[in-house]
Amino acid sequence: LALATTIVASSFAALPVFAQGGPQTVNWTREDVSKIELNNSNTIPYFDVSKLPKMAPGYHMWDTWPLLDRDGNIATYKGWKVIFCLSAPNNLLPGKVHDVATIRYFYSKNGQDWTFGGEFFPEGTAIGQRQWAGSAMLDGDEIHAFYTATGRQTEDHLTYEQRIATATGKIVADSNGVHFENWGPHRVILEPDGKYYETLDQANHGEAGGYAFRDPMWFKDPKTGKEYLLFEGMSGGAVGDRQFKPEYAGSAQYLQQNPVPPSAVHQNGNIGIAEVSSDLSTFKLLPPVIEANFVNEELERPHIVVKDKKYYLFTDTHVSKYAEGLHGPEGMYGFVSDTLIGGYKPLNGSGLVLANPTNNPYQAYSWLVTPKLNVVSFAQFGDLNGMSVGEIGNQPPEWQFKHFGGTLAPTVKLSIKGDHTEIEKILPQGWIK
Ligand code: FRU
Repeated sequence: LALATTIVASSFAALPVFAQGGPQTVNWTREDVSKIELNNSNTIPYFDVSKLPKMAPGYHMWDTWPLLDRDGNIATYKGWKVIFCLSAPNNLLPGKVHDVATIRYFYSKNGQDWTFGGEFFPEGTAIGQRQWAGSAMLDGDEIHAFYTATGRQTEDHLTYEQRIATATGKIVADSNGVHFENWGPHRVILEPDGKYYETLDQANHGEAGGYAFRDPMWFKDPKTGKEYLLFEGMSGGAVGDRQFKPEYAGSAQYLQQNPVPPSAVHQNGNIGIAEVSSDLSTFKLLPPVIEANFVNEELERPHIVVKDKKYYLFTDTHVSKYAEGLHGPEGMYGFVSDTLIGGYKPLNGSGLVLANPTNNPYQAYSWLVTPKLNVVSFAQFGDLNGMSVGEIGNQPPEWQFKHFGGTLAPTVKLSIKGDHTEIEKILPQGWIK
């Protein structure tokens, strides 16, 4: 989320005992980030965003995810593939889109030409004031939707609480297309515990940055058959309770030469994981897989691709989410390990996998890698003049209308060898296979 979300004061509640990381949590360090370099292997070529067709008639679209089968492959049902996206009417100002986000879907026979299907859930049935990113998994003709329920319907003003929710329905397809019906009740399945994952209440105690507990992504471990949700969280504890640990910086030598500014305490992004029971009835929070304490405050839309028996964990972040003293592009970052939990090393030394070109630094965002290494993302229309979507929100309305929109970006084909990645080629917009 590119907008600075204001944290509102709330009533004091006893804080649970917090922990920054579990025994196997890996740190993405300041030293790793200091190695970021844009080069031909990671920098997406410039493309003219204004020439890209708008895919959803009447809507901006941004975060996008394909319907997966239970093993995590792109699902095909009666010959159809499905993608879901966050969307908002395109007559809204950029600053407003996150406030009314709704999940809509498309279907396609070839995984390239998509027909707009409309709203995913029947109007008014999803939890939250609005819905943020998630994932969807198909088992037979049952679809399990996981999403972020942001805010509560019972509140009369917009709030930023994020809870992870699910609902199960049926997919229906014929020669004309795809729709969904027979939805069961929506339910909240995960909330931050205040120990490994910061609660909104803890964030309300002096946090200067944003807040996150969102973007559930389905994952089945092919080695064990166990099932999980990965998600974007923040390390537990209120800002005043958080302790600096030397390992957040990196080596002793790096730390000695690069002191950590006190303001970096506000950067506490993590990649969370929860174990899912096989009947999808219980969801158990585990300690985070990665933490970026004193490094970065948003590790968005985490997801794993397994290749050559290795786990490749990817996440997205923004220029503006790094702690003082660190710099990285709007990009996709990644880590590799031989085990699902523990042992992760940043890909390419720094973690950087994909970056926007320096002459269009806000060209695209919210990259997601499919099992076949096709990377989908959304393009931001217009010349953003080096501004983030949040900064654009401060511009006059006429300017904002002219300069913002969202549609799918050209797909990026990635190649991976060991701990090294490269952009192999650029594929057409909508290529999601
Ligand atoms: C990424 C993101 C997600 C969130 C959504 C909100 O672009 O910040 O983390 O679910 O956008 O619109």
